[in-house]
Amino acid sequence: MSQNLKKSGLRLDKFIAKATGSTRSKAKKLILSGQVSVDQKICKSVGLIVSSQNQIELSGDVLAFTGNRYILINKPKGCICSSKDEQYPSVFNLLGLNNLDKLHFAGRLDVDTSGLVLISDDGQWTHRITSPTHKQAKTYIVTTSEPLTRKAIQQLEKGVLLKDSAKPTLPAIVSTIDDYTYSIAITEGRYHQVKRMFAAVGNHVVELHRRSIGSLILDETMEDGQWRHLTEKEIESF
Ligand code: URA
Repeated sequence: MSQNLKKSGLRLDKFIAKATGSTRSKAKKLILSGQVSVDQKICKSVGLIVSSQNQIELSGDVLAFTGNRYILINKPKGCICSSKDEQYPSVFNLLGLNNLDKLHFAGRLDVDTSGLVLISDDGQWTHRITSPTHKQAKTYIVTTSEPLTRKAIQQLEKGVLLKDSAKPTLPAIVSTIDDYTYSIAITEGRYHQVKRMFAAVGNHVVELHRRSIGSLILDETMEDGQWRHLTEKEIESF
């Protein structure tokens, strides 16, 4: 969306279609069904001209006026963080959105990992989340095949050498939930990193779930496969 458009404004139905990746007719339906509010008041006027001065919400979620989309999904096991179906279906099938071509993942999860995944078409934003220089902490809940020894916890926290890698992992924070369940916070995003870290200390990850990225924590009420737009505050936290 150009700077001019942002200043001079655009029709509400066009804005909703762009910000949600849906068609203009779907956007109109959302507006007419009372799911859209402008400046905290439900607005059913599809042709209202809105600008970046307005706060526009869809079902209570503030939509970004940049025209970009920022999505949080609780990824279930059994689907892949890829834009296309391969051996398993793509997470994109769960979104039910159009215009998927520019959307990409801000950090992927394995097919058998569940939890918080961020998706956007704003490349600079996703770069700030995934680039190693920004060191965004990601927290995982790990179910293991064996209890972790105190020594293994110390090793994981200090950094371990992964198989086929010359550089040890950066320091991590490990907390014990119970004998077979741990939380681990890491700031890197190496391939299968958590599974390989636990393998490096002689253990095995049975289940893996991503709970948070930076200060953004997955809503406990979100069911597997459920998604929502991020709020302006959440977008700006990266
Ligand atoms: N580490 C893993 O091993 N798998 C994931 O999906 C994410 C982090």
